[in-house]
Amino acid sequence: MTIQPSEGALQGKVVLVTGAAKRIGRAIALRLAEKGARVAIHYYRSEAEASQTARDCGGAPLFRANLERVVEIETLFRQVGEHFGRLDGLVNNAARFTRLDPLEITEADWDFIHSVNLKAVFFCAREAARLMRLGGGGRIVNISSLGGIRPWAAHVHYCASKAGVIMLTRALAKALAPEITVNCVAPGVISFDDLDEEAVGMVRATPAGRPGRPEEVADAVLYFLTATNFVTGQLLAVDGGLSQR
Ligand SMILES: NC(=O)c1ccc[n+]([C@@H]2O[C@H](COP(=O)([O-])OP(=O)(O)OC[C@H]3O[C@@H](n4cnc5c(N)ncnc54)[C@H](OP(=O)(O)O)[C@@H]3O)[C@@H](O)[C@H]2O)c1
Repeated sequence: MTIQPSEGALQGKVVLVTGAAKRIGRAIALRLAEKGARVAIHYYRSEAEASQTARDCGGAPLFRANLERVVEIETLFRQVGEHFGRLDGLVNNAARFTRLDPLEITEADWDFIHSVNLKAVFFCAREAARLMRLGGGGRIVNISSLGGIRPWAAHVHYCASKAGVIMLTRALAKALAPEITVNCVAPGVISFDDLDEEAVGMVRATPAGRPGRPEEVADAVLYFLTATNFVTGQLLAVDGGLSQR
């Protein structure tokens, strides 16, 4: 499947999507390419899937980086800058998810989650903003989670990281205005035919009566990437209404 670009607000814009090899990141990359964006595909371990996503985006360039390491984040953005000569959008999608009893969480468990889910989101935003300012502005979209809004007892560390992403979004929106907007999308349960018992229970409680699709998250990202700078610091839950319960 090769995406045929169409005219629109994203036409020719350069957008980096982190963790774009598969699942939600892939859906976001495909949607943006379909809208005419020049997408930069970031991946870490999933090289084969990332190559497939890049092909499906019409031959997008690939960038590998372990986002746990700030030095690799700096290299990633330098390479994107060298390749495209500009950056218009960043989608901070890459993340980790673990289920742990909070009384058993070690320092390593905590850092495993926070190094990618929160620290990397900040340093990617910092590097992106530096590049975007050179081009007159840009759009940053952070992917949080329903777990950043609602407390989940078996995911205390993950919830803290994703709540951090929401406040990071708000504070950065103030810091980077008016040239750069920073907004946040919080998915609820998104189905890849791999729902465990916990997720099935959440779907049962979801007012929409079903899990979400990755394309529905991608549409929310697309909105923030194409909105004017009067929309910033905002959180959009794409969760079938589950955060309202
Ligand atoms: N799936 C859901 O139901 C759901 C619900 C709420 C929120 N979300 C959020 O939505 C986003 C996407 O979810 P998903 O389920 O599609 O994500 P995922 O498959 O768990 O992870 C996305 C990508 O993150 C990348 N990543 C992880 N550690 C990395 C590291 N150290 N350096 C660089 N990249 C790293 C991986 O890239 P490689 O594979 O290339 O290594 C992975 O493919 C995440 O922010 C997630 O928290 C998802």
